[in-house]
Amino acid sequence: MPQEVRGVIARAKGEPVTVETIVVPDPGPGEAVVEVQACGVCHTDLHYREGGINDEFPFLLGHEAAGVVESVGPGVTDVAPGDFVILNWRAVCGSCRSCLKGKPQYCFATHNATQKMTLKDGTELSPALGIGAFCDKTLVAAGQCTKVDPAAQPEVAGLLGCGVMAGLGAAMNTGGVSRGDTVAVFGCGGVGDAAIEGSRLAGAKTIVAVDIDDTKLEWAKDFGATHTINATKEDPVERIRELTDGNGADVTIEAIGLPKTYEQAFYARDLAGTVVLVGVPNPDMTIELPFIELFGRGGALKSSWYGDCLPSRDFPMLIDLYLQGRLNLDGFVSETIGIDDVEEAFHKMEQGGVLRSVVVL
Ligand code: APR
Ligand code: ZN
Ligand code: ZN
Repeated sequence: MPQEVRGVIARAKGEPVTVETIVVPDPGPGEAVVEVQACGVCHTDLHYREGGINDEFPFLLGHEAAGVVESVGPGVTDVAPGDFVILNWRAVCGSCRSCLKGKPQYCFATHNATQKMTLKDGTELSPALGIGAFCDKTLVAAGQCTKVDPAAQPEVAGLLGCGVMAGLGAAMNTGGVSRGDTVAVFGCGGVGDAAIEGSRLAGAKTIVAVDIDDTKLEWAKDFGATHTINATKEDPVERIRELTDGNGADVTIEAIGLPKTYEQAFYARDLAGTVVLVGVPNPDMTIELPFIELFGRGGALKSSWYGDCLPSRDFPMLIDLYLQGRLNLDGFVSETIGIDDVEEAFHKMEQGGVLRSVVVL
């Protein structure tokens, strides 16, 4: 029987979101229905609302979630009712050219549910990032459910489903930060702080946090920043060089998505070092760099999509490290809120007052 539950809907570009009744079908082949327990508010949800992703309104927002599998459709063997799972937007196909090359973290044909959730009048919903989890229950592809240790609180675990994983993975997977490295992170929101946390976990000896907001810089220290730079008060490139014996950092991570800070990350890097872009630029931005500098500095310029994570490999491992007290995930939860408070959470996010607001259902 299809079920009627509450969901947060963006009906039209720029309009405040509303909580409405949605219809969740029973899971078909390869699908699962998940009882959502918590879902973080991410910038991408706001981008959908602003029409910045596509025009396929109405959207069912929310995609950074954890919950319990309620039911599974035919042929589902990897998860079962009762499993505690984090939802991911990288359910790998196993057969695209990247999966066949042994690089499933770049899968070009990831799965979502085949059936559609709808409004009560039958209007089909577009779930954010193929998930849609600001709702009591959601329908996803079974591969979007990654089983983790249920000892973790859902409001914390769910964060690995998007922004925090993006930052941790930018450092640990894409940047390949390892022990003894020097790292500089530009932008200390949830993503940048996760990159700082990932660098700390990987054994970096120096972690320089750059932001324009002193409060954010204070928070960055809690995640492992050894030094902080307010870019409105001093030149971050010069200061990072000073802090790294005049050389620049082994790995620099841009977690804002601006040409100016990307350029700073480029010049704040040591010879043969790595620049990682995890901040998402706007489509109209361009960047100009002296060509000889690209060659002469060597190393690697990399972009990090979802922290180059492989959910089945990374989520359970990171939850285990969290439960052992080795990974600070609690620090990302600024507040827990109700399903009616998403619009207000968007405003707080725009004002920069929170790392993550998390809807608890
Ligand atoms: N120099 C340094 N820091 C800056 C600058 C600047 N010129 N401009 C903004 N910042 C800081 C802000 O003060 C803020 O602390 O960058 C941080 C950005 O954080 P959030 O807005 O909270 O964004 P976050 O959720 O961390 O995401 C960062 O990663 O995944 C992408 O889409 C996401 O592009 C976004 C980026
Ligand atoms: Zn694939
Ligand atoms: Zn997100």
